[in-house]
Amino acid sequence: MPEPANAAQPWWHHAVIYQVYPRSFADGNGDGMGDLPGVTSRLEHLSALGVDAVWLSPFYKSPQADAGYDVEDYREVDGLFGTLDDFDVLLAKAHGLGLKVIVDLVPNHTSDRHEWFQEALRSAPGSAARERYMFRPGKDAVPGSGDGDLPPNDWKSVFGGPAWTRTADADGAPGEWYLHLFAAAQPDLNWHNNEVRAEFEDIMRFWLDRGVDGFRIDVAHGLIKADGLPDWSEAVVAMVQGGMKRRRSSAEKAKAEEPAGPPYFDQDGVHEIYRSWNTLVSAYDGDRVLVAEAWVAPEERLARYIRQDEMQQAFNFGFLMAGWDAGRLATSIRKTLTAVASVGRPSTWVLSNHDAVRHPSRFGLTDPTKFPRGISSREEQPNEALGLARARAAIMVMMALPGSAYIYQGEELGLPEHTALAARYRQDPTFFRTNGLEPGRDGCRVPLPWAKDEASFGFSHGNAGPAAPWLPQPSKFGRYAADQQAGVEHSTLELYRALISERKELGLGDGTLHWSRSYSAKDGILAFETRAPGGRSVLVIANMSEAPVDLPKGYRVLLRSQAAAVSHGRVKANRAVWLVKAE
Ligand code: NOJ
Repeated sequence: MPEPANAAQPWWHHAVIYQVYPRSFADGNGDGMGDLPGVTSRLEHLSALGVDAVWLSPFYKSPQADAGYDVEDYREVDGLFGTLDDFDVLLAKAHGLGLKVIVDLVPNHTSDRHEWFQEALRSAPGSAARERYMFRPGKDAVPGSGDGDLPPNDWKSVFGGPAWTRTADADGAPGEWYLHLFAAAQPDLNWHNNEVRAEFEDIMRFWLDRGVDGFRIDVAHGLIKADGLPDWSEAVVAMVQGGMKRRRSSAEKAKAEEPAGPPYFDQDGVHEIYRSWNTLVSAYDGDRVLVAEAWVAPEERLARYIRQDEMQQAFNFGFLMAGWDAGRLATSIRKTLTAVASVGRPSTWVLSNHDAVRHPSRFGLTDPTKFPRGISSREEQPNEALGLARARAAIMVMMALPGSAYIYQGEELGLPEHTALAARYRQDPTFFRTNGLEPGRDGCRVPLPWAKDEASFGFSHGNAGPAAPWLPQPSKFGRYAADQQAGVEHSTLELYRALISERKELGLGDGTLHWSRSYSAKDGILAFETRAPGGRSVLVIANMSEAPVDLPKGYRVLLRSQAAAVSHGRVKANRAVWLVKAE
């Protein structure tokens, strides 16, 4: 691999990180479910794309109540995905290709099949086994009177329905309740418990010793709940993964001083945990990283997770949620850069992941700032061509921004959401816990198309198969298959390759951003220059208006979002360019 121009900073300052969702990346044994050998077999795709690192969503032993985010054994690979040996082979090959590997850590909750939870169910109220989780008597369980059949408080699960489930005592009588911010099969751990803390440090060492380059911390904002577990009755405007945007009595009231959301998110007590993890991870060589999945607002609150003695990165969900809108994106970029500068860290940028409707589909809606919780055939169907044109322009913005960029598997193919997945295929607990009101996240998790003319579009290979993929692929996926795009000029895949390569070559990830004064986000034009340490720079113009916009004089087009993005010296609507000074 060519040495990047910006090798002076640790790799995660400027990295491009590719999210692999193992169920849907590649199936190596032909059972219709993606697996670790499948990932290993396709790593060349990632090195050819030019990314620096891979983040693997969970592949641990799990009953799969929430696609693996319900872990039964944190030190074991689920049979669905392979074995620990398969993981070691994957890691060795990735490292051989110059790719770092980040794995998911799920500390907020375990699976209900985890041996600790099973032990807790068998044990009496008040026992040490129950102390590891959040067991409470019912609200009305007054000795000698109430029978405890009201939940301890009014919290709702992020996936819909109540956040408490009642257990039965040994004699079969109704007993205590346990908290689960997500599905009932995902009981929340008690992070005031020392055994819990020690166990997770041990799990981290287990994977660090194997050679992983870091952890993405699931629900990093949720580990500590407010003392007394107070009710939370304020209306939540858009919960997404919880509490990101909420009604505030006075808009800026909370700023950085206090958490403004639910009493189960963004409590100050979480930071002490991340400080201890920073110490643990820093003792290892090789710039290993901790990445916060924290749906926290405003940006100043998020920046607290990446203070110098905490994590290195946090996902920028404000950017992900800004949609296709110059003003909203400009505001997000501005606020992000100010907030991360205050803690002396670089930022991250992300447009899609396994929890969000794929951005080409969001950007093809009548309101391209909408953030739906899944799309089914009952809802408005996105304009596919328009959404893709905008997605290609948006990636030109993201790849020019200083910091680290996260891409979600398949976005390099321009893959749309499956927006017509029939109810019988749906597996996301959100769909069931909302009685189908929310379609859920399956539509962005459909297995990738690798080869247009193969069964399952080349997703499934191996002795047993090929089998039907675990979620059906829409027929249009054939057009997006990797083999239809590799080496094809102006394909989405080649656009991603070119952007990643130029970004690296120029050193934009370690650059500084300067807003252009010639264009205005108010007019729907997002325009900024990123100046790299080596003195080179790129001027990005993304036209988010509906009319063409003039190119500035004295520049030449380095990259364009589409072959015909520029005509008669103007950038067309819904297109973007990278410009460099003409010599
Ligand atoms: C965030 C993960 O990204 C999501 O997929 C999962 O359902 C929740 N955390 C609960 O673990």
